[in-house]
Amino acid sequence: MNIAFIGIGQVGSALAGRLISLGHKVVIAARDRNSNSVKTALAKYPQLEVTSPPEAIASAEVVFLATPFSANQAALAEAGDLSGKILVDCTNPVGINLTHGLKSERSGAEVVQSLVPNAKVVKAFTIYGFENFENNTYPKYGDLKPAMLIAGDDVIAKQVVSELCQSWGWEAVDTGNLSMSLHLEHMTLLWIQMARIQGLGPDFVWAMLRKNK
Ligand SMILES: NC(=O)c1ccc[n+]([C@@H]2O[C@H](COP(=O)([O-])OP(=O)(O)OC[C@H]3O[C@@H](n4cnc5c(N)ncnc54)[C@H](OP(=O)(O)O)[C@@H]3O)[C@@H](O)[C@H]2O)c1
Repeated sequence: MNIAFIGIGQVGSALAGRLISLGHKVVIAARDRNSNSVKTALAKYPQLEVTSPPEAIASAEVVFLATPFSANQAALAEAGDLSGKILVDCTNPVGINLTHGLKSERSGAEVVQSLVPNAKVVKAFTIYGFENFENNTYPKYGDLKPAMLIAGDDVIAKQVVSELCQSWGWEAVDTGNLSMSLHLEHMTLLWIQMARIQGLGPDFVWAMLRKNK
């Protein structure tokens, strides 16, 4: 699959690295080819290609958005035509004192969708720290897989993202329409609070246990 990344920092490079190892063609949609994040990602994953955002987006089937939430508008404006593209929103609106950056009135993913109304936005890869995207192996749990909660309005787009998740060991859990992203963004705040503030550390995720599977 042809995949493009807008934003190739901690989250973008962790996800891009895994996708490369699965055999996908991954291109950085770079506003600046010489930025630190692009150079760092290329040093780690030389298989990454770098092009201008419109060029990268034009040939991509799936586009990952992994920029600071405050940069989303500018980044998407530079990206070219995202019509019909699956846009995986990995971004989180985080406010002061670990509050929801949009005062919990609306999810960040819905704001992203409003910026690119013709894209198929799927919220995914937000509820844990990037360390878990680099390595999602949790020994001692047998066949139990870590859960990746996703949300989106387009059923086919969610299926594509679910298959990507499953291909590298996540159990994709479809939580519903894109508006459910608000709850996922609150899960992110909980994860950050537990991992990075209360000292649990980043090496944990959640799993989905069902009585009648
Ligand atoms: N860190 C985590 O553990 C984690 C986990 C889940 C979700 N998230 C969310 O994921 C997003 C990215 O986080 P991160 O930790 O990966 O950030 P990061 O390491 O700071 O990387 C940000 C990336 O966005 C690019 N960027 C910044 N402004 C841009 C613009 N206007 N146009 C295009 N690209 C731009 C940066 O490029 P330059 O190098 O050129 O500035 C860099 O490649 C955030 O929304 C964050 O809330 C983070």
